[in-house]
Amino acid sequence: MPLTKSGPTVEIKPATGKLGIMLPGMGAVATTFMAGVEAIRRGVSKPIGSLTQMGTVRLGKRTDNRSPLIKELVPLARLEDVVFAGWDLFPDDAYQAASKAGVLSKEHLAEFKDFLSGIRPMTAVFEQKFVKRLTGTHIKKGKSKMDMAEQVMGDINGFRKREKLDRAVMVWCASTEAYRKPAPVHASLATFEKGLAASDPEIAPSQIYAYAALKCGVPYANGAPNLTVDTPALLELARKNSMPVSGKDFKTGQTFMKTSLAPAFKARLLGVSGWYSTNILGNRDGEVLDDPESFKSKEVSKLGALEHILQPHLYPDLYRNMYHSVHINYYPPRGDNKEGWDNIDIFGWMGYPMQIKVNFLCRDSILAAPVVLDLALFMDLAQRAGMHGIQEWLSFYWKSPMTAEGLYPEHDTFIQLMKLKNTLRHLRGEELITHLGLEYYD
Ligand SMILES: NC(=O)c1ccc[n+]([C@@H]2O[C@H](COP(=O)([O-])OP(=O)(O)OC[C@H]3O[C@@H](n4cnc5c(N)ncnc54)[C@H](O)[C@@H]3O)[C@@H](O)[C@H]2O)c1
Repeated sequence: MPLTKSGPTVEIKPATGKLGIMLPGMGAVATTFMAGVEAIRRGVSKPIGSLTQMGTVRLGKRTDNRSPLIKELVPLARLEDVVFAGWDLFPDDAYQAASKAGVLSKEHLAEFKDFLSGIRPMTAVFEQKFVKRLTGTHIKKGKSKMDMAEQVMGDINGFRKREKLDRAVMVWCASTEAYRKPAPVHASLATFEKGLAASDPEIAPSQIYAYAALKCGVPYANGAPNLTVDTPALLELARKNSMPVSGKDFKTGQTFMKTSLAPAFKARLLGVSGWYSTNILGNRDGEVLDDPESFKSKEVSKLGALEHILQPHLYPDLYRNMYHSVHINYYPPRGDNKEGWDNIDIFGWMGYPMQIKVNFLCRDSILAAPVVLDLALFMDLAQRAGMHGIQEWLSFYWKSPMTAEGLYPEHDTFIQLMKLKNTLRHLRGEELITHLGLEYYD
């Protein structure tokens, strides 16, 4: 007897022709991502860290021995068919930007110089008050924010035509914008469009890119914690144009560790009295986050995870008094090689306290690049499968997953992975795996 048969296969348009991946922000993450895709295409690197390239999915019963690669189960764009474009407020091409970002070795930079130098940024939509620490010259000028949005639409359509693209997706890889709550201008598509025409001060540059993308039929994923599409106005546009959206803030280093460890403590009903997290980071992202308003966006994004996983309202004796604190310090000598420390105060049987220390010496952009790839390919899949609105099945990739109104986000990495794989099974009409052994009930 099957567990849950999800029914017939969902119709998915084939991934024919070229896929354009468009990246606002050509800094450390974007250039590391582009260089890595090219390294894989040339056969000099393996796609380490990428679920779409290396991940498998079990189908049927454990005894069936059916575990195809995800890319064999669902039709994903091939890396050979991917073309890149980007925007930045600095005119550096991807080679110059990658050299400044300091992620890739001199050898890798030399090896991919020809490829990276060919990717030049388009002029950015930028407003200093949203990213206080950066001042750029390579920026668009326009009569109004609507005019800027139309210029971005022109960029998208120009890229489509030039590269003879079949489809495109946009993944925000630009700096974290200053913290903002939704304002009246974000209440509906009509107020937002009026606001664009009147250059409403509450409309951030990221929202102008997102608006342009969704208007042009391009799915949008938000790699930073800024609001962007997480507003009624842009969700209305996504629904109206049947576009998938997803966000926010790539889950890579410390939050990836946190959302993987916290489920283990809860599973064993171990208490947590405190979780203190701190980081040193020396890249441009660190410099931007040194501004309190940009840090506030990041802090809100990082703080939510534990509360949702540990559910203090259900386990008051274990988590009600947990003290959680997150810090990021800009420390230039480390560049992109962020170091994170976590001190976790836990307690067990009869209340005896214990401590866990996590010291993660990571490479931020090395962790983020495969996430960008997976998101681009899965967002394109979602569009071809007719899925629109918030793609909660991609929560796996986000520090602060977007959810439909009234729902709480799922932060537990392992539940997120199960949700993602079950969505893929569903698309193919395969049984959903619930890990329920039916032999006990026969
Ligand atoms: N690396 C990670 O692990 C990680 C994890 C989560 C989120 N992020 C987020 O991803 C984003 C990129 O990170 P990064 O390390 O590449 O940063 P970065 O500073 O190296 O690159 C960001 C680039 O965006 C450009 N930019 C800023 N505003 C822009 C605009 N309006 N339009 C076009 N370009 C603009 C900047 O000039 C810069 O070149 C940041 O928001 C960061 O917070 C990164």
